[in-house]
Amino acid sequence: MEDQTPWKGNPWTQQIEVLISEDKIKARIAELGAEITRAYGGRELVLVGVLKGAFLFLADLARAVDLPVTCDFLGVSSYGDRTKSSGVIRITSDLSRPVDGKDVLIVEDIVDTGLTVRYLLNNLATRQPRSIQVCALLDKPARRLVQVPIDYSGFSVADRFVIGYGLDYQGRYRNLPYIGVLHALEVASPKPAS
Ligand code: IMP
Ligand code: MG
Repeated sequence: MEDQTPWKGNPWTQQIEVLISEDKIKARIAELGAEITRAYGGRELVLVGVLKGAFLFLADLARAVDLPVTCDFLGVSSYGDRTKSSGVIRITSDLSRPVDGKDVLIVEDIVDTGLTVRYLLNNLATRQPRSIQVCALLDKPARRLVQVPIDYSGFSVADRFVIGYGLDYQGRYRNLPYIGVLHALEVASPKPAS
């Protein structure tokens, strides 16, 4: 069975088009986990999830990685709440442990402008980890403002605002098991002509 219809009679999922099904996400995470397992060759790895968007992805990725893993989280906010990030990033909740001498893998839901990942790479680099890499479930290259390395990337998506599987619109939809787009949102706020 491919893309399931998200419409199960629940009004809150009525307007959602599935872009990446639950099955596709599962299969891709298994591949990413195998790739990360090979790359780190048995070393211990600190998975650093970026809250809140990466909470589901980190939970599934951690189980797909066959390495001694520890998990930590960083809360970041980029001022501005709607579908655009302002570019001013701050840490709202820091790591619970130092990462000096550790292999660190930043686990992100989506790399959009790249500003968040650039900020996190610069910030974590000052803490002297042994290495830092980036794993992002989604990559939206059309909106990139700064180039950042994405060492492990799940899917590339077009320039549309996506929700589900951790990603939110105004705090909602994170619990959808698939990635989708909200039609109402695209109709309500059409893109300026470019
Ligand atoms: P960046 O700093 O512009 O790369 O954006 C990073 C953050 O913005 C992501 O971690 C998401 O939390 C949020 N974001 C960017 N694009 C989307 C989207 O399409 N849907 C939901 N959140 C998004
Ligand atoms: Mg995020």
